[in-house]
Amino acid sequence: MTREEAGPRIAKLIEEINEHNFRYYSQAAPSVSDYEFDMLLEELIRLEKEYPDLAVPDSPSQRVGGTITKSFETVRHRYPMLSLANSYSEAEISEFHNRIVKSLEREPVYVCELKYDGLAISLHYENGLLTRAVTRGDGTQGDDVTANVKTIRSIPLRLTGDFPVYFEIRGEIYYPHESFLILNAEREQEGLPLFANPRNAAAGTIKLQDSAEVARRKLDCWLYYLMGENLPFESHYDSLKAAKEWGFRISNNIAICHNINEVFEFIHDWEHGRHNLPFDIDGIVIKVNRFDQQQLLGFTAKSPRWAIAYKYKAEEAVTRLLSVDFQVGRTGAVSPVANLEPVLLAGTTVKRATLHNEDIIKKLDLHIDDMVVVEKGGEIIPKITSVKHEFRKSDSKAINFLSSCPECNTPLERTEGEAAWYCPNSDGCPPQIKGKLEHFISRKAMNVESLGEGRIEIIFDQGLVKDAADLYDLTFEKLIGLEKMYPATEGMKERKISFREKTVDNILNSLEQSKSTPFPRVLFALGIRYVGETVAKKLAEAFGSIDRLMEASREQLIEVHEIGDRIADSLLSYFSDESHRHMIHRLQQSGLQFVMEQTTEKLSNVLEGKSFVISGVFTAFTRDEAKTLIEQHGGRIVGSISAKTDFILAGDQMGPSKKEKAEKLNIRMIDEQTFRLMIGLENN
Ligand code: IVH
Repeated sequence: MTREEAGPRIAKLIEEINEHNFRYYSQAAPSVSDYEFDMLLEELIRLEKEYPDLAVPDSPSQRVGGTITKSFETVRHRYPMLSLANSYSEAEISEFHNRIVKSLEREPVYVCELKYDGLAISLHYENGLLTRAVTRGDGTQGDDVTANVKTIRSIPLRLTGDFPVYFEIRGEIYYPHESFLILNAEREQEGLPLFANPRNAAAGTIKLQDSAEVARRKLDCWLYYLMGENLPFESHYDSLKAAKEWGFRISNNIAICHNINEVFEFIHDWEHGRHNLPFDIDGIVIKVNRFDQQQLLGFTAKSPRWAIAYKYKAEEAVTRLLSVDFQVGRTGAVSPVANLEPVLLAGTTVKRATLHNEDIIKKLDLHIDDMVVVEKGGEIIPKITSVKHEFRKSDSKAINFLSSCPECNTPLERTEGEAAWYCPNSDGCPPQIKGKLEHFISRKAMNVESLGEGRIEIIFDQGLVKDAADLYDLTFEKLIGLEKMYPATEGMKERKISFREKTVDNILNSLEQSKSTPFPRVLFALGIRYVGETVAKKLAEAFGSIDRLMEASREQLIEVHEIGDRIADSLLSYFSDESHRHMIHRLQQSGLQFVMEQTTEKLSNVLEGKSFVISGVFTAFTRDEAKTLIEQHGGRIVGSISAKTDFILAGDQMGPSKKEKAEKLNIRMIDEQTFRLMIGLENN
């Protein structure tokens, strides 16, 4: 596309994408599929890359991030970001109401809203464009987090309709439950510390330096307060209604209340209703609706006199602690979990509560059979907040943390500064091995779906696999006929999993297909501590192949952007273990991708259609480099020798069985020198 054509096309794409975004996020009524949407966005990003001078600051391509902010600029708020006075009882709300009636000499109309539990944000718009997003900070000045905020899809970058030239709008950035659960599940898999609740996760995310990571995390935002000079509205409610028309995400769960009883009704409705929301709220906010009345009431130093928050108490229940289980996760972290006498709490029956770590058990001074207070606060899983000591029997036994692994008996270890105890036997402790295998086959790693739903567990329990490399030695004969009964559990009927012919075929096929999984995902699949999806990608790009990564020194690792001491140490320790190197070698032999796919142009077609098996070691290149060279010249690598193999690139120390097989099948063996001649690296 020429420059002349690109200009109007970019404008058209932006208009279309903005329209789709608005329909999707503000009206929940999408008119195109996700795929069609992605295609439009991809085209836009491509054109902006080709013609950078045609890119505009409000381009929806900003949604995918890419900016790295080293340190956030401190910005002074034009209007201070105040907080709200809190109240915990209806009596306090009545007092608030009485004060207002006295000052205004009449009953006001109130607006009741949900009190979103996230972090406050101030958005600045000039001529309909989002120009700045600032955190609350200390209320007087906050951090400029514009690049990160621009990745939140529901926040408009460009407004539509009749908006004021300059204004500020405030709201709450939050983590929806669903995204939060996914985030923590991923972090658990990667061995990263979990966020205690969605609020912490939102606050942590908005201060990330890499906006592309923020974009992946799927934050959201509710707007609740329009501010500016000479705004053409008489009331808060009208201003929000208009803001909605300009493209802002304003909740529908807002009520106009003509008297204080209607306010109480709103409070009562959400007391229970809040548990069904897909995000956290910690109360409701009551605001005087009319701006002239707000002005009359004014502010204290800390908060407006025209508004108040009603905070819901975290729901509590008292029940008996029956026992404590210690669970070993994929990373070896041992988590204590309390088994409770079932009790109804916030609409669900609670039977278990997290105890987090040893320090928390000690602090609570927990004994078996204690009556404990369980609370469901911002956290998804309930926790024990205190013990009713008065009910404790004199002979009750204190709960002690284990000193050795409940699964493999290895003495547990605790790193200084960390709260968790770990089982260090990462390659010999059954739940850790099983967890690693589950991670290896998971969707974002090797994506061997047909081994999901408990099948990998059966294969492991049968002793057929001990590590990922064993998966590629599985055969039809080994798998056919395996089965396991799963007894009925709550909400699930008894079920039997059996390996019939079709299942086994599917498993073997998808294992075969997984061999073409790109290197970054293979690296992620290895489950090296702290090497999550993003880190794996960065490492793969920086080093190009597993061979080079395995050889990298601490200094070379740390040189890579965003790779710090912790990740470097984890890599060095992983690769220093001979059994890990051996497993990687076996995976290489099976034909998995351990080299970054070449995005560069092909060098030639001289090896077009030819298949190669690589064996032995070479002097001028590593095996991975040989593989790359073959591919760059149009050839293909296959895992094992068959009658269809065209060449064997044979180095020193080629295995005797391979040699024998090649000779038997009469396959041409070429040495390093001949290979170099073939691809024109050397002349005769
Ligand atoms: S209005 C002058 N409305 O609560 C303060 N705040 O303690 C005007 N919040 O910092 C704030 N939901 O982060 C308002 N519907 C809502 C809210 C809300 C949550 C937060 C906000 C504020 C804090 C006040």
